[in-house]
Amino acid sequence: AFNLRNRHFLKELDFTPQEFRFLLDLSAQLKAAKYAGTEQQRLRGKNIALIFEKTSTRTRCAFEVAAHDQGASTTYLDPSGSQMGHKESAKDTARVLGRMFDGIEYRGHGQEVVEELAAHAGVPVWNGLTDEWHPTQMLADVLTIQEHSAKPLADVALAYLGDARCNTGNSLLVTGALLGLDIRIVAPRQLWPADEVQKEARALAETTGARITLTEDVAAGVAGADFLYTDVWVSMGEPKEVWAERISLLKPYQVSMETLRATGNPAVKFLHCLPAFHDLGTEVGRQMHELTGMSELEVTDEVFESAHSVVFDQAENRLHTIKAVLVATLGS
Ligand code: CP
Ligand code: NVA
Repeated sequence: AFNLRNRHFLKELDFTPQEFRFLLDLSAQLKAAKYAGTEQQRLRGKNIALIFEKTSTRTRCAFEVAAHDQGASTTYLDPSGSQMGHKESAKDTARVLGRMFDGIEYRGHGQEVVEELAAHAGVPVWNGLTDEWHPTQMLADVLTIQEHSAKPLADVALAYLGDARCNTGNSLLVTGALLGLDIRIVAPRQLWPADEVQKEARALAETTGARITLTEDVAAGVAGADFLYTDVWVSMGEPKEVWAERISLLKPYQVSMETLRATGNPAVKFLHCLPAFHDLGTEVGRQMHELTGMSELEVTDEVFESAHSVVFDQAENRLHTIKAVLVATLGS
């Protein structure tokens, strides 16, 4: 076993491939124990702060339920409910919360903020999504891939379509490289992960045997894929003005039944970190429809609701994987 006590989780590369796999194994064990009713509490008496400067459903609930299952308590600080960012710096906030809490989750904008918290808190800090990275999401995604594929990770082909110049795109490229996958970014060139991220991934791939492809060609990019993954075309915090351009760039990268067929793999599975725009059932969806005339964006409703889609297993796995991170870094 690995001792990850007191470690931060700010980005995927904070862990070695072996440590990452250990967290996946621990997630699977914790999931099985919860289902069997044999879960042992390893976080009793711990207090956890949850700072959210952007909204969340899955990440917040996963942290709260994971902590509760394990006997810890949580304090939720909402996007406007603390002094941080307005009246108090991240550095001062870190030193205050570090005196009261055993661990701190942070979701917000710049990666530098979560790094600053980690540098000064004196307790483990976990990144619950920044503009650059979404590391806890990656654990859930890979656990879901393992559950839905008989192949070892080294043989899995994962194609990510859409806006890849965002947290999810960056994180998937690096995670694919870290774990030795056949990882493909299928997107218009201007929406590929930044050069530094590509370089980081390529350097890792040399040691892990990962195969990395970045392509604008949908048919070539998805051929033979075991999993297709997409995310929203405009991320939290981006201005409305980018919508029109994004949609015109990304329309050909929408995941439809035709995209699934282009894999040539009848058993292909569909992943999405969620929330997804696949119908007009939300306020933002309706606004989008007014703006663009489209009622489905990154994925069609048909794919989202099909038997190929494993997005709710993926969402559930946020709980088990975040629990593993808490137990490994904080547990007794
Ligand atoms: N996937 C994800 O992070 O979802 P939330 O924004 O709801 O936390
Ligand atoms: N790229 C998305 C992910 C949401 C979980 C965003 O940042 O809004």
